[in-house]
Amino acid sequence: MSFIMEETKNKLKSPGDDLVFFVNGKKITEKNAEPEKTLLTYLRRSLGLTGTKLGCAEGGCGACTVMVSKYHPHQNQIIHYAVNACLAPLCSLHHCAVTTVEGIGSVASKLHPVQERIAKAHGSQCGFCTPGIVMSMYALLRNNPQPNMHDIQEAFQGNLCRCTGYRPILEGYRTFAKDGGCCGGKGQTNGCCMTNGHVQEHVSDNSTLPAEKLYDQSEFMPLDPTQEIIFPPELMSLSKQPQRKLRFVGERVLWIQPCSLEELLELKATYPNAKLVVGNTEVGIEMKFKKLLYPVILAPAYIPELNTIQHTQDGIQVGASVTLTVLGDVLHAAVKKLPAHQTEVFKAVLEQLRWFAGQQIRNVAAVGGNIMTASPISDLNPVFMAAGCKLTVMSKGEKRVLEMDDKFFPGYRKTILKPEEILLSIEIPYTRKGQYFSAFKQSPRKEDDIAIVTCGMNVLFKEQSNTVQSIRISYGGMAPVTVLATATCNRLLNRQWNKELLEEACASLAEEMILSPSAPGGMVTYRRTLTISFFYKFFLTVQHKLALDLQMEGLTVEDVRPECATATELFQLDSPSSVQLYQAVPAGHNSEDVVGQPIMHLSALKQATGEAIYCDDIPCYENELHLALVTSTKAHALIKSIDTSDAMAVPGVVAFVSARDIPGSNMTGPVVYDETVFADDKVTCVGHIVGAIVADTQAHAQRAAKAVKISYEELQPVIVTIQDAIANKSFFQPVRSIERGEVAQGFKDSDHILHGEMHIGGQEQFYLETNCTLAVPRGEDGEMELFVSTQSASKTQALVAKALGVPANRVVCRVKRMGGGFGGKESRSTILSTVVAVAAHTVKRPVRCMLDRDEDMLVTGGRHPFFGHYKVGYMNDGRVMALDVTLYSNAGNSLDLSLSILERALFHMDNSYNIPNIRGTGYMCKTNLPSNSAFRGFGGPQGMMIAESWMSDVALSCGLPAEEVRRMNMYKEGDFTPFNQCLDQFTIDRCWEECLQLSEFKKRKDAVEQYNRQHRWTKRGLSIIPTKFGISFTAVFLNQAGALVLVYSDGSVLLTHGGTEMGQGLHTKMVQVASKTLGIPCSKIHITETSTNTVPNTSPTAASASSDLNGMAVYNACQTLLQRLQPYKDKNPKGCWEDWVNAAYFDRVNLSANGFYKTPDLGYDFDSNSGRPFNYFSYGVAVSEVEIDCLTGSHKNLHTSIVMDVGKSLNPALDIGQVEGGFMQGLGLFTLEELRYSPDGYLYTRGPGMYKIPAFGDIPIELKVSLLRDAPNDKAIFSSKAVGEPPLFLAASVFYAIKDAITAARAESGLTGPFRLDSPATPERIRNACEDKFTKMCPPADPGTFTPWAVQV
Ligand SMILES: Cc1cc2nc3c(=O)[nH]c(=O)nc-3n(C[C@H](O)[C@H](O)[C@H](O)COP(=O)(O)OP(=O)(O)OC[C@H]3O[C@@H](n4cnc5c(N)ncnc54)[C@H](O)[C@@H]3O)c2cc1C
Ligand code: FES
Ligand code: FES
Repeated sequence: MSFIMEETKNKLKSPGDDLVFFVNGKKITEKNAEPEKTLLTYLRRSLGLTGTKLGCAEGGCGACTVMVSKYHPHQNQIIHYAVNACLAPLCSLHHCAVTTVEGIGSVASKLHPVQERIAKAHGSQCGFCTPGIVMSMYALLRNNPQPNMHDIQEAFQGNLCRCTGYRPILEGYRTFAKDGGCCGGKGQTNGCCMTNGHVQEHVSDNSTLPAEKLYDQSEFMPLDPTQEIIFPPELMSLSKQPQRKLRFVGERVLWIQPCSLEELLELKATYPNAKLVVGNTEVGIEMKFKKLLYPVILAPAYIPELNTIQHTQDGIQVGASVTLTVLGDVLHAAVKKLPAHQTEVFKAVLEQLRWFAGQQIRNVAAVGGNIMTASPISDLNPVFMAAGCKLTVMSKGEKRVLEMDDKFFPGYRKTILKPEEILLSIEIPYTRKGQYFSAFKQSPRKEDDIAIVTCGMNVLFKEQSNTVQSIRISYGGMAPVTVLATATCNRLLNRQWNKELLEEACASLAEEMILSPSAPGGMVTYRRTLTISFFYKFFLTVQHKLALDLQMEGLTVEDVRPECATATELFQLDSPSSVQLYQAVPAGHNSEDVVGQPIMHLSALKQATGEAIYCDDIPCYENELHLALVTSTKAHALIKSIDTSDAMAVPGVVAFVSARDIPGSNMTGPVVYDETVFADDKVTCVGHIVGAIVADTQAHAQRAAKAVKISYEELQPVIVTIQDAIANKSFFQPVRSIERGEVAQGFKDSDHILHGEMHIGGQEQFYLETNCTLAVPRGEDGEMELFVSTQSASKTQALVAKALGVPANRVVCRVKRMGGGFGGKESRSTILSTVVAVAAHTVKRPVRCMLDRDEDMLVTGGRHPFFGHYKVGYMNDGRVMALDVTLYSNAGNSLDLSLSILERALFHMDNSYNIPNIRGTGYMCKTNLPSNSAFRGFGGPQGMMIAESWMSDVALSCGLPAEEVRRMNMYKEGDFTPFNQCLDQFTIDRCWEECLQLSEFKKRKDAVEQYNRQHRWTKRGLSIIPTKFGISFTAVFLNQAGALVLVYSDGSVLLTHGGTEMGQGLHTKMVQVASKTLGIPCSKIHITETSTNTVPNTSPTAASASSDLNGMAVYNACQTLLQRLQPYKDKNPKGCWEDWVNAAYFDRVNLSANGFYKTPDLGYDFDSNSGRPFNYFSYGVAVSEVEIDCLTGSHKNLHTSIVMDVGKSLNPALDIGQVEGGFMQGLGLFTLEELRYSPDGYLYTRGPGMYKIPAFGDIPIELKVSLLRDAPNDKAIFSSKAVGEPPLFLAASVFYAIKDAITAARAESGLTGPFRLDSPATPERIRNACEDKFTKMCPPADPGTFTPWAVQV
């Protein structure tokens, strides 16, 4: 504290320097550069450049990507690179030029080709990720105007998109690639379709129909690199001038940029506790998320000695501030130039760098930063340690050279450097003949992910022999520090590289690399197995290299057996290819009728230029305040006291708001009022909102919120998992059940009965835009205006009014667009909106809050985890006769929408199979977790997933091909579901047959079987999965919608309807409907927003039904207007729209009409099992093929074919976007995304660093999507069908393909028959299920004998 005070005094004495930099060509001189401020905050708040988005604040999503350009006077070179503005400290930008999405083009002036192509290729849905993706591509093209597909894929390693499924983005940008990648077999003549404009002919039902392109590539503007904005000449001359030390003085932090090594060492001697910051990719995270404060920061990025690269006699010496990108370039060049035996370590470093973060991070992160962070899961340290790299460290007057060995890291995140020392450089050694080196990394997701286990392995053989002279194996992820497996290595000295050595090494590693069963990070069995699996891979790799090298010397040692060869191959990301097929509008179709045409999302161009306005982009009001939540750290406790004294002392704090400040009711909830706006006396989950701080800036509000001290009295029981809830009988009521047929008799009639269980993990919606509300008190009559990112404008209005104690007519809720919703903003968004509204009411000023990603993930819940156990009766031939299934959902601490979600799970417990005798029972578990809620599919996927689990068990038990058993049990036209609804217009069988053809299933299956016979350690799997998804809200009253259509006297039309736009293209479809109905071009119709003062009592935009419902309401309103205009059309048949409107106006005709629609004949009764819950069903089928690495549990998605029935598509581009985007979210759900909770209910996975949604590299290498032809649906607008949710479940085909591959791997160990595989099929689960001699060496500890780090909730 005294240090800070002293510094504060210094600050007063000497103000900081001016920070000079350029943004989009404009010079900025910032006199008060705040060291704690990021470039992102500065762009958005100080410059009003809101095109750059905040998605995570931790470098994990790329939404904030901008390009930074610098002039290097020594090299006389300008470099451009993509960076994450959320981590770039403002103060690091002195003499840099920043280019944001606004700087490269706009709709108003001229689009840049990277903006145009992503939009027109349908690569922007909600658009929140789009500016970041645009800037990653832009930065790539600035450096390399003719990239290849590999470059493009690499450029996107640090960008996430939750909507599109990535395919259209890659396809749009493929048009910049010089190789264009593979055309996915679409090309006909003149090579690839991407250059010749042809697509494959679609063969089906013996007829050949040409499919249409989804966009016209010939429209694209060419890329002209000469037109790019130039590097500011003034900056070039400023950069050429001699540099001097800079000081930037902030509220709490002093930033010093020394300009020489001497100056740096002097400063480090003066401030030994000062942090050195280069890329800020560690320190930035520590300050933001661990709330660490570093009062003095030294920025050594520009010091020449820390940036040198020298080739020495023993290796390459790299300065500590050299970025990972530059390190990669240097090593690549060396590998190209030097003999292969010399560069074994370099290749291993490059292999680690391939999977190290994304480019934005690698462009700024320094090698010294990675070493000095001393993270136990650093990717580079195990390599450096195994290689015995030399580190030069310096302090004022002293220099020493250390070897990186197991003494270098004396403890968790510690090195042996003294406080006054800095790391100057690292020397990465050459290898020599007879020396082999490998590095391995295993992470949950291949791209941009931190390691579970990582390692470097180094062996040197005695000359011309296979006898080990020395060996060094280093692991990360197995202890609080990077470790050496010294005991094992000692045992292997002087041994021959053969089977005996392998066995001894594995046994020894199993003994040496142990972990407590409670070890942080969990996955204990898996991590231990990985240490051995990696060694086995190394063993084989070396065996192969030895065999080749010694053969050249005339010696023979055994080579790797061919069936094991793939275990030595490095994971490669192949360039994806795709095909999209749909039914074109017939020839002669009126070109003005846009229904059925693949028109672009109407906001796509604005989204690509950053001009589209999201909630937090609304300019700040002058007197606006910011809000930060104060949340519970206990899962179940009484609040004893709340001490806000420290919080109120934080500068800029205006108020602490809590339950006492609520003028109306503190009780809230979307269906029943069983939760609180602010916890009163008791908290029931970690993340329960207790209060909120309101302050002048977000930073102050958040700092103060952390300073609020709450004391608790902990309560028992703490119920976290479904199993806890079952044990405590902690359920919400009612318990639901559906039964049809004679279940008991069905079991009696069956040849066999099996029992099984499955757990399906929850899922975070991970909309790229977190929840955001701006509440503006209007100052009279209790009026409040809310700008909200919500799917439920009316629910928000109602619950805010309830909390404020005013009628709903005083509250207006406006929604322009959302950056994704996926159900997560259906009911849970109201929690934040209500809090913000109460705060705004209390302080009588506008209040804004956009949650940080970690808060959003903590507070808002997600998809319900489900546990199912089942009993199935079946015949020898695979026919299922009877099913009794019990489903348990983890609902969390309030009911929210859990009942409807459970009901939908039960309605889908049959998936697409006709089970004559069936009973399903469902329980909602009441737990001490944040309330789980809606997420695309709404329980349906969980119900169907469990169905496919028993289907897979039946097939495995019968020893029959799963596709035969599935087909045999599938429904037929006219069959009845368990809830007695007749299946008419049933198209699954058509989808099935077409999907078999599209995927060439038979051929593929033969190839898979052959592959599996030939390979021991990689296996392939194939699966075909159908889906049937009921369309309608199951709460009948929600199946209604309204629209308001206003025609102005100039003929322009303002359209409003009850649905919200979250990227799915609803507004685009509604404009298409209005355009067709009114017979006018889309350009005359505009939608501004969704608001409660135009269409009242709207249902949430959910249940896939919004196009159906709102489309009919829009149609009805337009019909009313048409009727009113008809007399004027009749009078003037040759006139145009404007003439008729004008005539009607002068004739005093009402040119405003509302429309309304309610779905007819709905209503289901659980007691009598009668009535129709659904208006109709959407159908689809998918085939997927995968390859798993049995040793690591990684998998590759090789192929997916999807045939989806969307009726007569309103817009094939949007519908294919929904199919692909939904599929990729399902792929995340079933193979990747894992929410991890501590046994006491604390969520560990609170951001993209730990929670992995699919990235660009996860899309199937080959993806074919076909919309079923000739399938009009007479129950929805213009014969279309709902499409938002149904395709998500088709990703189960990937899960069951993985299960198929695991089955093949298990067969190698003599294991057959059903086995339990829970979802998601993570690398951990895949590896553990592929039981073999290595897994046997690492048995799990007995449950109940330890407290695990994480539990399956
Ligand atoms: C999204 C994301 C993904 C990531 N992925 C990976 C990954 O895949 N693998 C992995 O290993 N890491 C990963 N990291 C961690 C991080 O990027 C690296 O550790 C990086 O190399 C740190 O470099 P930096 O320059 O940004 O460090 P900074 O944050 O600037 O500094 C880090 C630490 O090093 C110290 N330091 C820096 N230079 C010196 C010096 N010369 N002398 C003494 N101390 C010094 C600093 O004081 C500080 O304590 C990731 C981080 C993020 C945010
Ligand atoms: S906001 Fe910067 S990477 Fe996510
Ligand atoms: S379009 Fe990419 S996140 Fe929505």
